[in-house]
Amino acid sequence: MKTDFLVIGSGIAGLTYALKVSEEFPDKKVIILTKTQSDETNTKYAQGGIAGVTDFLQDSFDKHIHDTLISGDGLCDEHIVEIVVKEGVQRINELIAWGAQFDKEPDGDYKLGKEGGHSENRILHHKDVTGKEMERALLEAILKRKNIELINHCFVIDVITQHHLGYLVTKSTPDIECFGVYILNLSSRKIEKIASQITMLATGGNGQVYRSTTNPAIATGDGVAMVYRAKGRIENMEFIQFHPTALYEAGVRGQSFLITEAVRGDGGILRNASGEAFMERYDERKDLAPRDIVARAIDNEMKIAGTEFVYLDCRHMKQEDFLEHFPNIYAKCKSIGIDVAKDMIPVSPAAHYSCGGVKTDEWGRTSIKKLYAAGECASTGLHGANRLASNSLLEAMVFAHRAYKDSSCVINELSAVHSEEVIPDWNAEGTTEPKEMILITQSLKEMKLLMSDYVGIVRNIERLKRANSRLDLLHEETETLYHRLTLSPQLCELRNMITVSYLIVKSAELRRESRGLHFNTDYPGKNAILQNTIL
Ligand code: FAD
Ligand code: SIN
Repeated sequence: MKTDFLVIGSGIAGLTYALKVSEEFPDKKVIILTKTQSDETNTKYAQGGIAGVTDFLQDSFDKHIHDTLISGDGLCDEHIVEIVVKEGVQRINELIAWGAQFDKEPDGDYKLGKEGGHSENRILHHKDVTGKEMERALLEAILKRKNIELINHCFVIDVITQHHLGYLVTKSTPDIECFGVYILNLSSRKIEKIASQITMLATGGNGQVYRSTTNPAIATGDGVAMVYRAKGRIENMEFIQFHPTALYEAGVRGQSFLITEAVRGDGGILRNASGEAFMERYDERKDLAPRDIVARAIDNEMKIAGTEFVYLDCRHMKQEDFLEHFPNIYAKCKSIGIDVAKDMIPVSPAAHYSCGGVKTDEWGRTSIKKLYAAGECASTGLHGANRLASNSLLEAMVFAHRAYKDSSCVINELSAVHSEEVIPDWNAEGTTEPKEMILITQSLKEMKLLMSDYVGIVRNIERLKRANSRLDLLHEETETLYHRLTLSPQLCELRNMITVSYLIVKSAELRRESRGLHFNTDYPGKNAILQNTIL
């Protein structure tokens, strides 16, 4: 296969980019690849909404910029913050033009929610299922485009660079170029190649490296691992955001159900095992302090009481309003026997968002030529050490747009698609079908456990060291499997998650301070020198 534009991922970043390039170049071919169903993305599960300044009477760009910078704890790139906040409004309007619907007040103004770290109500939302609504609107728009081919169940293994053409490529090689990707076609079980002029990486987050996460099973950090293998730049991987309030359900592993921060924005109160509203002891913004502070406070309360959860109390809230804004949460709680009018909701922190990722510039360009990145897999400089709630959907759209602008110029300067004949076929010689899956599933369990126990909300030197040596062993064993066995998505994902775990641990070790989402008890203070951790 060959294409002009290749998009890896069908979340908000990939779909926005695909819509834009397909409109600008109706005669060029756009392929979107997704590893399971097209709507199975982090985007689909977004609840709270998309932040943006739309009420210019009460709110302003300056206030949104200020809130983002405060949350990012000194590490945001101010230029990037300004770009996202100011251009974001146009992107939200485009989303609305593509058909996404946001809740409105009776007078027709948008209903604006509030979340932790925001000084104003500025979150547009669709009940508590905002992401589902956005994904619906975007996919419907995509299906109308004749020059877009959307291919599901197609697992991208690696981006193709000069390395695959037989040249030595190292971190210091100048002008590494992307020629396309190798894919595992899950229908034919064959490994194929797709040659592309321009490739957009929009593979989302990596929450699945932890035992408890709000992310769906697809969030295994594949894009970051691929770029790292291709010798591209990765940064700030230590900044893993733990959402304070995932629903606690005993025995549930994998994806935890989220209780959106907007519930606290509407008045929900966190209480510990003794019923105390503890947040006022930690921060004057109480339950609406930025996420790093709330998650650490909950972690501390759970450790003091020896419990696996705290409570979110919504009993005092007006129940008609709760049902109106949060019908999905209401129904989920009811399905497990919790009546939010009478019972408190058990919640605990869960891995939620990766602030770091593939380093990109202000046009979404990675350090590899003809390879762009946008959305959660990218590190644009917006989030710094801690993402402000509901800024990620906005960021994904802004940089998908900017990458479209830049790649529109680049594609006009390129000659024909790099002939796929030049790219060698995948060599699967000597590999055999796996006899048992236990070698993969057990390593996966071990990895999740060690990441949760040693590289969670609170870290220290000893824990990181231990995580590193355990990962070394898992890495060695998995590489042996990778070279011996016929490839499967499970094996590729395990390999990618071990790489991502290594990048998180390595970056955490390099950061000898506590800042934003990274808290190391051996270095509790902040370092005066502001630095990103680049690998
Ligand atoms: P995703 O939407 O995750 O899409 C990734 C795509 O990449 C998928 O199509 C997947 O199949 C594909 N892919 C990955 N690897 C491969 C591979 N190897 N081969 C082929 N395809 C691949 N943010 C907000 O701003 N507001 C919110 O209210 C909000 N709420 C959230 C609630 C939850 C429960 C979660 C999990 C996240 C929330 N976030 C929120 C974060 C936000 O949803 C994500 O950061 C954002 O949707 C990421 O979009 P994306 O396009 O980068 O990736
Ligand atoms: C939430 O709804 O609490 C999640 C918002 C986000 O992650 O930005």
